[in-house]
Amino acid sequence: MTIVHRIVRQGEVASTNEEAKARGKAGAAEGLVIVAESQSAGKGRLGRTWSSPPGGLYLSLLLRPQLTTKELLRMTVYSCVPVAQAIEEVTDLQVQVKWPNDLELNGKKLGGILVEGVSKLNRLDFVVLGIGINVNAEPATDKVERAVSLRAVLCREVDQEQLLASVLQHLDRFYSRLKKGEVDEVGYKRRSSVLGRKVEANLGGKVVRGKALRVLKDGGLVVRSDEGPLVKLSWVSETTLRLLETEEASLQ
Ligand code: BTN
Repeated sequence: MTIVHRIVRQGEVASTNEEAKARGKAGAAEGLVIVAESQSAGKGRLGRTWSSPPGGLYLSLLLRPQLTTKELLRMTVYSCVPVAQAIEEVTDLQVQVKWPNDLELNGKKLGGILVEGVSKLNRLDFVVLGIGINVNAEPATDKVERAVSLRAVLCREVDQEQLLASVLQHLDRFYSRLKKGEVDEVGYKRRSSVLGRKVEANLGGKVVRGKALRVLKDGGLVVRSDEGPLVKLSWVSETTLRLLETEEASLQ
């Protein structure tokens, strides 16, 4: 069943995720979408800030799925696929997904997804799925050389409204399937920038180096560590991942 979107457009907000959370706590139904022109305190994973100047797409979707907090990893990881599909549909570019929540173009960060669950009486009450895409603005970040926008790659502006409509449409299909326990593993694998590559994961201080083998249905990433054992990465809130080699090197 498709969800009815109620789009609330705002100028500058601190964070669309925070806006959606406040409304969710006040009882807003699922399908609420907060879209902002810019954010003064956009949030990324691990408490990072998400640079959000005008020209980017910043949105948060409120959902009330029957999931446990543990299942949010699956939502975070696999929601990259419908967002990538939407960007591809509107631009004809090929988007890569980097575990757990990055959208990339040629190894540079194009966007990210921040899924936040809010619990009530020890049960997941609602989820806010926040998406940030560098569309027609260059992110103002100290790591600017590792970020990219659609405009910079295409040398033209991209229609934000068309992109928003496509993102919501693809997310809708994703969410219907997710509620039935289905995710697009093939679509994920095809777009993954890490599978088959040498990676270094930092698990809240513990470093694991090895080869990224597969992404499980629950969203966990399995790495064959250089020491031999398989390690499953799933503690998203504390884990960072980086590639250790170029594509050329990994093909050898
Ligand atoms: C990440 O890469 O760590 C995730 C970035 C998510 C950014 C989006 S922008 C819209 C929504 N509101 C926020 O404050 N964050 C998310």
